[in-house]
Amino acid sequence: KNPVITVVGSINMDLVTLTDKVPQMGETLMGTKFQTNPGGKGANQAVAAARLGVHVKMIGCVGKDQFGTELLHHLQNQGIDTAHVEQVEDRTGIATIIVSGQDNSIIVVPGANDHVTGDFVETRRDIIAQSDLLLLQLEIPLEAVRKAAQIAKENGVKVILNPAPIRDLPGELLENIEYLTPNEHEYRLLPSHNEELHKKVILTKGREGVSYYEGNQLVNIPAFNVSAIDTTGAGDSFNGGFAVGLSKGLSLKEACQYGNAVAALSTTRLGAQTGMPTANEVEAFLKSKIDWNIR
Ligand code: RIB
Ligand code: NA
Repeated sequence: KNPVITVVGSINMDLVTLTDKVPQMGETLMGTKFQTNPGGKGANQAVAAARLGVHVKMIGCVGKDQFGTELLHHLQNQGIDTAHVEQVEDRTGIATIIVSGQDNSIIVVPGANDHVTGDFVETRRDIIAQSDLLLLQLEIPLEAVRKAAQIAKENGVKVILNPAPIRDLPGELLENIEYLTPNEHEYRLLPSHNEELHKKVILTKGREGVSYYEGNQLVNIPAFNVSAIDTTGAGDSFNGGFAVGLSKGLSLKEACQYGNAVAALSTTRLGAQTGMPTANEVEAFLKSKIDWNIR
């Protein structure tokens, strides 16, 4: 049976400006290019997983505006079940993204994403309960994230939480999570004295790959070396790939490698979701890397 992955999370339109130089406060510069691309950490995870061939259900909100309608159609075109994406009386979430060189900076305005409340999630209890795996991030109200994780735990559904953008996380939420996937910055802001928590961490380190503890042993799974054009959404791609790997029964190590491959390929094209690979593309990529024994 094809695994079902549910994503509860944000859906944004990314307003992407490319520039050689980032302006100082008060400065005006000429940029080189502008694009609007589908984004949002939740939607990015959903698209990453859907491209890899699993059945994905998205729970979230967009606005009753042009971006909202566009994004809804876009998710449907990716084969994602959007029966629980609601169009609400608000503006669709947006992210203003400045891409310069290989780095980027982002401002998110949640808009409709703030309508994903604890109650909203509660009324979708069955969708979560019937999933093989639940993917979460932190661009919707914390109450909704808590609720979703709690429903999953009650029903034996494994939860992966990407704690981004980072904020204080209640202990009860962390208890309901199987894997936490912070980047290095987010990792530093996690509660430091909680050993149980640290056992759940898959630390994502960009071009350095990912690491986790196996007992007292730190395991590092190196990233694949590609020429990155845009790292926006690379973390979301890892999470989507990692989730699909786990749901298909890969070992933790293999699932990390799989996630690393998805993330690497996603960075080779401009835009969070552009470049996210299909299962065949990942397989071919992994095979080529293993054949040549290069990373
Ligand atoms: O993780 C990348 C995403 O963060 C972007 O797509 C943007 O929408 C922000 O939510
Ligand atoms: Na990309």
